[in-house]
Amino acid sequence: MKKKGKKAKEKIIVFDTTLRDGEQAPGASLTSEQKLEIAYQLEKLGVDVIEAGFPIASPDDFKAVDLISRKIKKSSICGLARCLTKDIEAASESLKRAKHSRIHIFLATSKIHLKYKFKKAEDEILNLAKKATKFARNLCPDVEFSPEDATRSQKDFLYRVVETVIKEGARTINIPDTVGYSYPQEVHSLITDIRNNVPNINKATIAIHCHDDLGMAVANSLSAVLAGARQVHCTINGIGERAGNASLEEIVMALNTRKDAFKNLKMGIETKEIARTSRLVSSLTGFIIPPNKAIVGKNAFAHESGIHQDAILKKRSTYEIMNPKDVGIDKSQIVLGKHSGRHALAKRLEKVGFKFSKERIAIIFKQFKVLADKKKEIFDDDLIALAEEQTKPKVKIYDLISTKAITETGVEPYAEVKIKHKGRIRKAESTGDGPVDACYKAIDKITGVKTKLLNYKLDAITIGKDAQGRVKVEIIAKGKIVSGRGSSTDILESSVKAYLDALNRVG
Ligand code: KIV
Ligand code: ZN
Repeated sequence: MKKKGKKAKEKIIVFDTTLRDGEQAPGASLTSEQKLEIAYQLEKLGVDVIEAGFPIASPDDFKAVDLISRKIKKSSICGLARCLTKDIEAASESLKRAKHSRIHIFLATSKIHLKYKFKKAEDEILNLAKKATKFARNLCPDVEFSPEDATRSQKDFLYRVVETVIKEGARTINIPDTVGYSYPQEVHSLITDIRNNVPNINKATIAIHCHDDLGMAVANSLSAVLAGARQVHCTINGIGERAGNASLEEIVMALNTRKDAFKNLKMGIETKEIARTSRLVSSLTGFIIPPNKAIVGKNAFAHESGIHQDAILKKRSTYEIMNPKDVGIDKSQIVLGKHSGRHALAKRLEKVGFKFSKERIAIIFKQFKVLADKKKEIFDDDLIALAEEQTKPKVKIYDLISTKAITETGVEPYAEVKIKHKGRIRKAESTGDGPVDACYKAIDKITGVKTKLLNYKLDAITIGKDAQGRVKVEIIAKGKIVSGRGSSTDILESSVKAYLDALNRVG
């Protein structure tokens, strides 16, 4: 019996248009130098084609395509042009230093564009497409043609245009969902119909270009791949006109992660460069990445829920379908917050250097939950402060019950402190130079211990408005110099805790 040969993998060409369609996003404009910096990173990422700009659009766009063409050697550099001689000449001129170059020409084919944008009949459009392709092909061997608004075009007319431009030498036929109107099954049918109805379609590669107006750009692109498209247009972080374009990182990781569904395909992308590329584009365009953005958002590999954290610590794949390292993110993040559990807390305490018994962890866990209700996120330094509390003397002579301070401009600050001492709740009040001084004087009235404050230092443990304050004090009492520490989200409370901690150490 003859052994069945393994089918060779088909390549998905990644066409990145961050520097052209992505840069068309309102507010995203980049200088030529910034574009070059991104182009270097795209080359490292392994994109096959970099659409570097629309050279006729402005002298800056021309300059950027020219600069990128001179410097980038591995990826092919592409310039966009309308079906106009001056556009194609500008594209060709800007690309002339490129090692590999491509001219991308486009012309709308939908009825609505023909009627309102061009006021032209179908035959005129067909003729323009034919002439432009021929002209571009004479200047560059690699020509891509896009029938703009293809997904809203009459299919028969679309087939005629596609057949014509392939006859004139277009190597790639890109099908744009220009206004992000389609849904996945529809895109699948359109690509299938093009493959079945354009007689010379096998002479060209079919590409897909989707916009995200209805949030379906990536799903539509993947659907096109399933129907036989072998080039995807995409942008880093999905930036682009209006709601943006299909995001490169999402398409690439979907194809990589779901090899069971997208069989026998390969790409030249170095996925470990994804996070770096995403950060670079975000910082140069000023477009912040939403925390919940797939693949590259700050929360994409972060877990706060106790159930998820516990499972992740046992086996990462319980709640993660990708390895963060594969996209260049160091590791999954266990975020400690109010939904976190004991397991994650104990692990993190160990990481910051505290190994406690189960009983101690139970006590810290209670304090942790109280703190987590006050703070959005608990950082390592917050944990250290909690853990340090555990290392204080076990038997507290003086234990804080509550503090109250009143300050008003022009009036001497007033404080009231309640302390538990030898099983009794004792209360005192005082005025002082400030609310902390008033509290300390009230405490002195309760303890009857003569003290002198040598040092007082307040630090914010972490960042943010909800950060904890940590106070360190040094006092002289009963002939001893002792120090004390206290932390809380309330500065007054941390000050009082630190003072009492010192007094407890005096004994
Ligand atoms: O969205 C679109 O149709 C385009 C074309 C220029 C391909 O960006
Ligand atoms: Zn577009």
